[in-house]
Amino acid sequence: MFVKVEKDYEEMSQRGAEIVAEVVRQKPNAVLGLATGSTPEGLYKCLIDLARKQNLDFSQVTTFNLDEYEGLPAGHPQSYHAFMWEHLFEGLGLREEQTNLLSGIAGDLASECVEYEEKIRRAGGIDIQVLGIGGDGHIAFCEPGSSLAGRTSVVALHPQTISDNARFFETEREVPRRALSMGIGTISEARTCLILAKGEGKADPWSGMIEGPVTSQCPASALQLHPWTIAISDTDAASKLKNLEYYQHVARERADQPVLPPWIVRPELDPRRQAERAIDTNA
Ligand code: PGA
Repeated sequence: MFVKVEKDYEEMSQRGAEIVAEVVRQKPNAVLGLATGSTPEGLYKCLIDLARKQNLDFSQVTTFNLDEYEGLPAGHPQSYHAFMWEHLFEGLGLREEQTNLLSGIAGDLASECVEYEEKIRRAGGIDIQVLGIGGDGHIAFCEPGSSLAGRTSVVALHPQTISDNARFFETEREVPRRALSMGIGTISEARTCLILAKGEGKADPWSGMIEGPVTSQCPASALQLHPWTIAISDTDAASKLKNLEYYQHVARERADQPVLPPWIVRPELDPRRQAERAIDTNA
């Protein structure tokens, strides 16, 4: 995991946006995995600015979002559909057919989840997955106890998530109790993961993710097993990291190294594919 600490939210957002922009520069038909919540809002704003200033072409990009609340139609102001159009898709001028989100009102939610996995596969897999971290250590809506190999499914929200997200609704009672969410197995297959955290409230799960054991009690810790996760936070979220000085040293040492893995453009170099091939050859 590449751990990077930026001095504040603005710098973190700018850095994150530059990384996503670099994916699109290297691979104009990239598949972007996207997240909602207050954390990535700044990244999306910076990405829209970058796209305008540098004339970046998003016309061939495909997007997949991590999750959606059960029961909220796309037009509901608190739906993740609405969030994405307001904070990113509109600004980038994306067409609806470029974007994919789970439907929280599908008649058969289980089939909706299976079909979503199939769509990701047909699109060629996710090149970069943007993530935030929950106060309880969740990624997407994979709450503590989720299978670290889980696929997209209908999940029950943790009481802490319900209370954390109540700020977006009139009352806590209005927060949906369930959601459709990519699983940790789905997320782990992304070629790159980019996870962000801001503020003191994330210091505990952030240190759990980076320095704690790999455990379903802190679902984000599964990213320790991913070959190319970039973890960027502000100083407050990084305040409980024991090895902080060392991570900063590594970041300085790597300053002239590519920020993205070579397998964004050369999938055959992905170590996970090489491992699969080795198993095939041995069989
Ligand atoms: P937040 O949520 O960005 O609104 O803090 C992050 C998350 O729950 O994944």
